[in-house]
Amino acid sequence: MQRQLNLLQQFAGAFLKDVNLGVFLINTNFELVDISEMACRVLGLNKEEVMNQSIEQIFAKLPAQHRLVHRNILEGMVVRNHALSWTNNQERYELLLDSNVLRDDDNNIVGAYIIFKDVTNLRSLEEQVQRSDRLAMIGQIAAGTAHEIRNPLTSIKGFLQMLRKTLQVQGMEKESGFTDIMLGEINRINELVNEFLLLSKPKNVTYHALDISKVIKEIFPIINNEATLHSVVVRYEAAGQLPQVIADSELLKQVFLNICKNGIEAMVDGGHLVLTERVDVEERIVNIEIRDTGPGIPMFAIDKIFDPFFTTKDEGTGLGLSICQRIIHDVGGHIRVSSKGFGTTFTVGIPYP
Ligand SMILES: Nc1ncnc2c1ncn2[C@@H]1O[C@H](COP(=O)(O)OP(=O)(O)OP(=O)(O)O)[C@@H](O)[C@H]1O
Ligand SMILES: [Mg+2]
Repeated sequence: MQRQLNLLQQFAGAFLKDVNLGVFLINTNFELVDISEMACRVLGLNKEEVMNQSIEQIFAKLPAQHRLVHRNILEGMVVRNHALSWTNNQERYELLLDSNVLRDDDNNIVGAYIIFKDVTNLRSLEEQVQRSDRLAMIGQIAAGTAHEIRNPLTSIKGFLQMLRKTLQVQGMEKESGFTDIMLGEINRINELVNEFLLLSKPKNVTYHALDISKVIKEIFPIINNEATLHSVVVRYEAAGQLPQVIADSELLKQVFLNICKNGIEAMVDGGHLVLTERVDVEERIVNIEIRDTGPGIPMFAIDKIFDPFFTTKDEGTGLGLSICQRIIHDVGGHIRVSSKGFGTTFTVGIPYP
């Protein structure tokens, strides 16, 4: 019996040390009796500091809803597969948590345990699948309806232009002003439909070898113009001769315009937008970095900015970045974003042969 108990104790010790699970053992005073190494690592706790401390004290800095462990588990509340996020040193973990009480032979509660798994990788895979599902669905809807929207728009636009002419001839200034507004709005719808079409299947794409610098130089006046309107100073640091990449120049222009426009729009009180080029010879990638001095992207939004229709702007469609990502994926590249409190950097990486 004693030998068995020893074995059990040894197992418990080894288990808490080696197992890739978060484990908390708690007594009836809501104090931590033991904790596994993985739990310390993921939660950023130091075992010596937290042992025998009350759980309330350990999580004192966190608001109640973010604490991993609640006092009511000692009242017999059973938790199974409870999903929750945990952020520690800029890393976000997705955890799946179970907990239950421990009872002695007389059925009295003597403590409780909490076990959690780190399912971060699984969750991000799931999100990726969902994202591409959503993109595929939008593509189908777009292909099916874009033409049906465009055709009637074309005739409305034609008749409105005629109407405007008649109104102008008759000197009806105010009324012809209304038609101008209507025509402007129709153009907006047209642009939206075009973006939809691009999202589903880009038309007339011609891939050829091109110099990214040349593409950026061609759109630089447009970026500069937009920047001036927002009191933003743009700088383009060309790196000299870049290796040629295989891409469609019109689509690339759209990518850089979208990202620069986002940066400029983020800097409401002016600021700087800097474009730099770097060649990664080892990976054979041309990296274009677009850095702004705006407010940055909050943690909660950073996972969502590439989702279609995610926008924080009153006038935004939320399609800009999802289209950029689609275009760059199609040439085998990637878009990365980093934003830590102040400023945002988008890096567009395109492979070269
Ligand atoms: N440089 C940036 N700084 C801060 N936030 C940004 C930046 N770039 C993108 N975002 C955030 O990402 C969101 C999505 O961007 P996206 O380009 O997809 O759509 P949008 O700009 O809102 O709309 P649209 O592109 O149609 O005008 C923005 O609403 C904004 O919240
Ligand atoms: Mg945008």
